[in-house]
Amino acid sequence: MIIAIDGFSSCGKSTMAKSLARVLRYMYIDSGAMYRAVTLYALRNNWIKNGSPDIPSILGGLHKISISFDYNQGEERNITYLCGENVEEEIRRLEVSENVSPVSTIPEVRQEMVVLQRKLGENKGIVMDGRDIGTVVFPHADIKIFMTADPEIRAQRRFKELTEKGIKISMEEVRENIARRDFIDQHREVSPLKKADDAIVFDNSFLTPQQQLNWALDIVESIAGLHEN
Ligand code: C5P
Repeated sequence: MIIAIDGFSSCGKSTMAKSLARVLRYMYIDSGAMYRAVTLYALRNNWIKNGSPDIPSILGGLHKISISFDYNQGEERNITYLCGENVEEEIRRLEVSENVSPVSTIPEVRQEMVVLQRKLGENKGIVMDGRDIGTVVFPHADIKIFMTADPEIRAQRRFKELTEKGIKISMEEVRENIARRDFIDQHREVSPLKKADDAIVFDNSFLTPQQQLNWALDIVESIAGLHEN
């Protein structure tokens, strides 16, 4: 099956997608990591100035950007590679988070990423999370989940995650970043973040990771049952 999980920033999509993929022995792809990798490449080349992407430079250099994933058995997760370099940690930095949504509005960037995402899903057996997976990348996905959670709870989770990694950031900065990304993601012209008509809405504000995994597994079981009958 193809399982598409979309939703707002920091609402637990990747936690659920990862654990679901592990239980089902599916591949997990974090499509946000791709947009983050493009953003990192642009930052390194000074193609983003004061939060504004220099679009001609990005378009001119897009063909040089190659993104791939490699599953690390020990860490039980996919590592993101940018032109052969492990950038898994670097793409999570605040500077990337602050610039990724403007870069993700560029239609040509999205086109390239969608090609790659569809290629990764060619053999099915995949859980992919992002903003447009159920609407654009895999409109015929077997299961579409649209995740949401209370904004304050999302900010608290994100703050905890970043500070645990040793990243120095204030709660206010986290709140602002999430709100800004949500706004840009929902209002961009190409592939805005929105619920697919046939997606199941899931609010995980008051659920533990195990409870949300159980919820998702129940959905998978019921859909798999429908496929068999
Ligand atoms: O999922 P994550 O928060 O890491 O994604 C980073 C950013 O990448 C999002 O805020 C959004 O701007 C962009 N994105 C996107 N489409 C996707 C996945 C991510 O536009 N499918």
